[in-house]
Amino acid sequence: MDTLIVLDFGSQYSQLIARRVREAQVYCELYAWDTPKEQILAHQPKGYILSGGPNSIYEPGAPQLPDYVLESGVPVLGICYGMQALTHSLGGKVAGAAHREYGAARLHATTENELLPEGEQTVWMSHGDRVEALPPGFIPLGATSNAPYAAMGDPQRRLYGLQFHPEVAHTPRGGEILSRFAHQICGLAADWTPQSVIEQEVERVRQQVGDEKVLTAVSGGVDSAVATALVHRAIGDQLTAVFVDHGMLRQGEAVQVVAAFRETLGMELIAVDARADFFSALAGVTAPEEKRVIIGERFIRHFEQQARGLGMPPYLVQGTIYPDVIESRAPERASAHRIKTHHNVGGLPEEMHFKLVEPLRYLFKDEVRKLGEALGLPGEMVWRQPFPGPGLAVRCLGEITPERVAKLQQADAIFTSELDAAGLLRMQRDEAGDLTGTSQSFAVLLPVRSVGVMGDQRTYQETVALRAVTTEDFMTADWARLPHDLLAKVSSRIVNEVDGVNRVVYDITSKPPSTIEWE
Ligand code: XMP
Repeated sequence: MDTLIVLDFGSQYSQLIARRVREAQVYCELYAWDTPKEQILAHQPKGYILSGGPNSIYEPGAPQLPDYVLESGVPVLGICYGMQALTHSLGGKVAGAAHREYGAARLHATTENELLPEGEQTVWMSHGDRVEALPPGFIPLGATSNAPYAAMGDPQRRLYGLQFHPEVAHTPRGGEILSRFAHQICGLAADWTPQSVIEQEVERVRQQVGDEKVLTAVSGGVDSAVATALVHRAIGDQLTAVFVDHGMLRQGEAVQVVAAFRETLGMELIAVDARADFFSALAGVTAPEEKRVIIGERFIRHFEQQARGLGMPPYLVQGTIYPDVIESRAPERASAHRIKTHHNVGGLPEEMHFKLVEPLRYLFKDEVRKLGEALGLPGEMVWRQPFPGPGLAVRCLGEITPERVAKLQQADAIFTSELDAAGLLRMQRDEAGDLTGTSQSFAVLLPVRSVGVMGDQRTYQETVALRAVTTEDFMTADWARLPHDLLAKVSSRIVNEVDGVNRVVYDITSKPPSTIEWE
């Protein structure tokens, strides 16, 4: 597969560059700028994109452009710091701008060229330093009122630089620029499609497992579902899926998971009804971390039991996706502090020594979803919001009982269906580049009773909190500015339809200082 390499100089947007290139259906991988040369050259890259970064190019120890990039003679596009690194390597001059530039600017093309679409466009600037003198052989391609060299290029050698960030949504035509670089300048075909990914991964999985048996745990989560569907496409009946129903799924979800695999995909699925066991293990437990530990341990026990019953297949499917791979390559970039222990029910029981089958290792989340659709999984399952492994256990604050979980499921289903009806269940960008809708939204049941009045009766009942956030990376999040009318309708429906709830509140804290989940 023809590959474009993004070298990461530390920008918060590096992953976005790779995603945009993939949206242009060109295969692209992201590596830290100082990755050993052999690892990069093994891909035989057809072009390089150099990301932005927080450094200043003349600082001692600042990351520099590795020699092999220019020596390879393939096209290079430097973005922001990447442009400065390119300039510095080629004998141009970089200097601190009089003013840091942050925000939208108007760019006009100064010379007709293959990289920039014609005419004026809005671009997103975020930089301190900038190019002051072009390297020999370069010409200016575009300028803003503040930056005479907002875009530069040496079309002969196919080397380009952009001061602005084409990868962010605030540069509306940025995707087109990256697509032009990939297709026109690097000459790459648009062959990274769900169909080609399926073919490639089916082949890879067949090679890896031969005629051995493979086990998979499905939970209703998107990644495990798509990984499972893909492996099933590759090896059919050699794969057995296990679904442990711990009773903490959303309303109707357990039935849906079983139907999706058994009926839609025609797979063999062992469904274990472990609800009673989980509820009894959780009885009387209110501490969040304790809940997580109990659920994680129980899950492994049930799973292990099934695996033994199947004669311990040597392989296990794992829904690892590309951001996990990138983060494990550069652990210092991964989330520095884990505030909560994340248990991925459906994840790897480490002590069981399976060999892993990871067919989504090279895919971003949005690609995983598209692949899931191409594999015939229900849209509802594929486009679902993230859901924590311990499920509703961490949204049912206080003691977990079947009755309280049922109450929570009912309230949650009302909130979700109203958001869906209002078209707010997914997150999108509007024309101004702002996020609308919700990235994650759910109900939380609080063990807080308050006084109410229904009919002429005094009530003393529990509270439901509604949580809805917008975020791209789930590391930080803002609370969603939902329409008041929608909140009013949800509140009234919950109080009227869910027994034992007489008050509904809306959570208006961002992350940080709060977290998205309440536990
Ligand atoms: P917080 O609450 O830490 O959540 O802001 C960030 C994202 O992680 C999800 N989350 C989990 N996912 N196992 C998971 O697989 C867990 O134990 C877990 N806890 C939180 C949460 O839903 C949000 O998307």
